[in-house]
Amino acid sequence: MDSVAAADVVGRLKAVVGPKGVVEGTDAAPYFREQRGLYRGAALAVLRPASTDEAARLVAICAAARLPIYPQGGNTGLSGGAVAAKNGVLINLGRMNRIRALDALNFTVTAEAGCVLAELQRAAEAADRLFPLSLGAEGSCQIGGNLSTNAGGVNVLRYGNARELALGLEVVLPDGQVWNGLRGLRKNNTGYDLKQLFIGAEGTLGIITAATLKLFPRPREVETALLGLRRIDDVMELFARARAASGDQLTGFELIPRIGIDNVLRHGEGFREPLATKHPWYALIEISTSRGDAQLRQALEGLLAAAMDADLVQDGTIAESEAQRRELWRIRAALAEQQEKLGGSIKHDVSVPVSKVAEFIVRASAAVSERLPGIRPYPFGHVGDGNIHFNLMQPSGADKAVYLKRWAEFNRIVHDIVVSLGGSISAEHGIGLLRRDELAHYAAPLELETMRKVKAALDPLGIMNPGKVI
Ligand code: FAD
Ligand code: LAC
Ligand code: ZN
Repeated sequence: MDSVAAADVVGRLKAVVGPKGVVEGTDAAPYFREQRGLYRGAALAVLRPASTDEAARLVAICAAARLPIYPQGGNTGLSGGAVAAKNGVLINLGRMNRIRALDALNFTVTAEAGCVLAELQRAAEAADRLFPLSLGAEGSCQIGGNLSTNAGGVNVLRYGNARELALGLEVVLPDGQVWNGLRGLRKNNTGYDLKQLFIGAEGTLGIITAATLKLFPRPREVETALLGLRRIDDVMELFARARAASGDQLTGFELIPRIGIDNVLRHGEGFREPLATKHPWYALIEISTSRGDAQLRQALEGLLAAAMDADLVQDGTIAESEAQRRELWRIRAALAEQQEKLGGSIKHDVSVPVSKVAEFIVRASAAVSERLPGIRPYPFGHVGDGNIHFNLMQPSGADKAVYLKRWAEFNRIVHDIVVSLGGSISAEHGIGLLRRDELAHYAAPLELETMRKVKAALDPLGIMNPGKVI
């Protein structure tokens, strides 16, 4: 399209959303920023529709003009999926942030895509319910973005990924039609489950404009402990015991490496050494129940005493108050936030069967250290789900730019090990731009071909978030 024609289309798009829905000049900068500083966005226009109808009219105009569309939620994604390009328009869902309905008896909530995750959690709590999706970016990521990336987070063990929490969706298809699939049903076997196509599609198949989501009973007893352990095998053995002993009550089981504690103590604000002695590994575990008389504290103490007797756990602390509990989780959140302080960081967001987590960490750490002595593996995360953020910090004092040029080389070493263990090269952050070539490398040809057929069927013009995922 020439620039005169593009200007005409952009003029018509702006008219749909009105002045409140157009972001221009320096105000547009945050929409082009990318969390990890790996990419820079651009766009012919940044548009913020206020309703599904406006979003649908925008998409219809873009489809007629074959103009690329880059959907964006809270822009907290870690794979470059929401990075726009100057050949198209960025559609940000942030103004569509209403809770449309909360059905406490049905344990469901229907919210617009731009609803910030923390707001959704609060709305559920106000109705004495729990919306369990929880992650570090919850103060700014949006439910539409969470569903589009099939986000995971710290409660997957008990409640599942975003995918497991969705009962229905409303989606603007790439031709501008609106599919209303907002059903609040636990059981519905009427043909293909279309919503699953859009969940985890990272905006490549349509724009999610609203969702009906599962709610749960609100927890009344919550117990949280931070434990120090000697070996990664001990961490995973503890996980198996905790899971078996606590029934369905284990909600979180997170791995923290000593390098992460050192980093947080050094660079974060207001942190203290969490245990009396230092340990190579830490496990942050949480159990919860909606019963008020479950005596979880006793159960957790029993579990820990047995694990200490068995020489699995060396030391530990159980949060005595909500403030202490938050402090323990603040250490966990700071692991991700502070890692850049150690310089260049090559990322891996991988999963392996839980039974292979220890083997993966040992093998991958040895392999990368052999390739580059002094490299600092920084493995942390949701090991109860088999999900490790296996980030590799540059050797102290190395040149950051030179180190980061070796990104693909280290990806190959780590991902080869992941695949040999039956794992996945993208556990929860998605493919976006960052892992597109890795997906092409590792996915079975038939899998890729089938994905491309789905893409071509739904988005024959190829205008929906082009260049991402496949
Ligand atoms: P964006 O970043 O705006 O977009 C992500 C992708 O979804 C893009 O491809 C975009 O095009 C598409 N998209 C967004 N909205 C829509 C829509 N309405 N319709 C169609 N496509 C859309 N992720 C985890 O899974 N687990 C974690 O524990 C976790 N922790 C994090 C901690 C921090 C500190 C940070 C910064 C990020 C973390 N993330 C985590 C990553 C990120 O928060 C999630 O991927 C989140 O789901 C992205 O939501 P968003 O609204 O910011 O989406
Ligand atoms: C976390 C992000 C990085 O788990 O997914 O902290
Ligand atoms: Zn994570």
